[in-house]
Amino acid sequence: AASAVPLHAALSGKVALVTGAARGIGAATAERLAQEGARVVCLDVPALADALKETAARVGGDALALDVTSPDAPVTLVAALRAGSGGVDIVVHNAGITRDRTLAKMTPEQWEQVLAVNLAAIVAIDEALLGTGALRDEGRLVYLSSISGVSGNFGQTNYATSKAALVGYVAALAPRLAARGICANAVAPGFIETAMVAKMPLMTREVGRRLNSLSQGGQPRDVAELVTFLSSPGAHGVTGNTVRVCGQGLI
Ligand code: NAI
Repeated sequence: AASAVPLHAALSGKVALVTGAARGIGAATAERLAQEGARVVCLDVPALADALKETAARVGGDALALDVTSPDAPVTLVAALRAGSGGVDIVVHNAGITRDRTLAKMTPEQWEQVLAVNLAAIVAIDEALLGTGALRDEGRLVYLSSISGVSGNFGQTNYATSKAALVGYVAALAPRLAARGICANAVAPGFIETAMVAKMPLMTREVGRRLNSLSQGGQPRDVAELVTFLSSPGAHGVTGNTVRVCGQGLI
């Protein structure tokens, strides 16, 4: 298994925000960014406040219990970042949900919930971060897309749509931010062994594992490595892309 080899304290002095950091890919990313010296603000829903506090304590960062879809989330978030370190250098938009169902059975609510968390909340928060200048120059924006957004996936029309939207979003956003040295990229993981996939049927999970470029289950830290690179100063020439990880398709 890949071990976390530090990129030479590349993020020392940087402040990072990771949404959905209570568990899974978000928690692993918070840990990896902290290993590089970043001060990490860990955000997740109030219902997971205990797990969130554990992540924050583990990475020596701050916990912010906030639902990204609440109407005042952008204002609350900017205020918290301003009060903490004056601003933020790295934002990892990792919070995301699934509401899987075949298209014929999918309800309007299931569409709306997924689009609200996986897309609308992200855009609203970005508008606040960019509009107020809370995201500092040379900043890094990283978005959790998905292989489902690139290749589609049965029963995930709503989810695939939301994740595909991020591919277009980073491509459109990146040129707008280049003059400030800010990079915006998405990562598109294959199946990663987290709570999100644990609730999928066994067959779906097994197929997902076999489609993995590692020919084994992808781990949160495999994604965290890529996110950390895209968050680093060395990634200044990389923007507007969607990079796949743990899902190249071997069969
Ligand atoms: P997870 O379900 O373990 O973690 C997601 C976190 O986001 C949870 O802690 C959850 O409470 C938080 N969250 C959800 N809605 C929120 C809201 N409204 N406000 C604040 N926080 C909220 O999922 P996992 O697997 O760690 O996924 C993380 C991201 O990676 C998601 O965006 C997911 O779509 C994406 N992804 C996951 C893959 C996988 O195979 N696990 C594959 C490709 C993408």
